[in-house]
Amino acid sequence: MRKVVWWIAFAYFTGQLIGISGCVSYFRKIPHYTPPTWQVRGDVTRIQWGSCNESSDPQPFWPVLADRNPDAFIWLGDIVYPDPLLPGPVMNLNRLEHLYAVQKTLPDYAAFRAKIPVIGIYDDHDYGWDNGGKYYPYKEQSKQLLLDFLDEPQHSPRRRQAGAYASYTLGSPPHQVKILLLDTRFNREDPGPTADILGEHQWQWLQRELAQSTAQVHLIGSSISILSEDHHTENWSHFPQSRKRLFTMLQALSPEGLVIVSGDKHFGELRHLSLAGQSIYEMISSGLTHYNDTPRYKKKAPLQAYSGLNAGELTVNWKEQYMTLALLNGKGQAVISQSIPLTAPLVAE
Ligand SMILES: [Fe+2]
Repeated sequence: MRKVVWWIAFAYFTGQLIGISGCVSYFRKIPHYTPPTWQVRGDVTRIQWGSCNESSDPQPFWPVLADRNPDAFIWLGDIVYPDPLLPGPVMNLNRLEHLYAVQKTLPDYAAFRAKIPVIGIYDDHDYGWDNGGKYYPYKEQSKQLLLDFLDEPQHSPRRRQAGAYASYTLGSPPHQVKILLLDTRFNREDPGPTADILGEHQWQWLQRELAQSTAQVHLIGSSISILSEDHHTENWSHFPQSRKRLFTMLQALSPEGLVIVSGDKHFGELRHLSLAGQSIYEMISSGLTHYNDTPRYKKKAPLQAYSGLNAGELTVNWKEQYMTLALLNGKGQAVISQSIPLTAPLVAE
């Protein structure tokens, strides 16, 4: 009996180890790269996002979201779940690659991405380690697999920088939206009072992107919640020094039309923070295929919460000068909605 157990353990760990052979090399000659920008239609800009998606479960959202004609869709992590049988890091990257391939061949998703630009970032499960960070031994390979899934060009800086963070510019002033996707995994230290979550290069990049921006709306996407303070899920409050650094940066640069979007929790929330008299909203959307009940909030409760499958949507109405953060159910109905004036989005309520 003991021999059988040893053989099973041997087969499992060998399988995990040889999985690394499926990864791709990223050491290539780098041609000139132009950051992605694209034009948007007329008076309304619409951006959707979602997270927490089991490739083997029914995925009802794709036709519903496509019917609303978004300008872009953002994956905010847990695109697939390659978790190993035992807790710990995913060593079998073939499984991660396989699940990404499965997701891409699902007819409704394939039809969606044929019509709508799809961008995104990983969270912990699709990164390869539940609540994992900078110590994941296959983080480079995992990043390349994410970028393959997103059809990122081989010459993109995301392929060689320390993390998959990225910025996108939609439209042109005075109707311009800047999307900033943060990588909360690649450089994330273990949680603690002084732990860093972004890494110095990413901090510098974020500062530059905000300081040089010409956009009227700024959407910051973080796989884990920035405004939450509870301990039932991972969030930025577990990295207080990093959170303070981010708030100080936002306060100093005061980007126009700032909204935060995130995922991870397996339920939806609308959160609000008054930062030195400035008003910041965060909409958390999770998940696309599975959800949990909302918890009892021991610390700061959200403005609203929703238990059920959901996707997020930001609609900017340029003509009427306001934007709406909405949480959509599987029928495309808004179950949570918050309007924010465009003219003074960061002024106190
Ligand atoms: Fe998840």
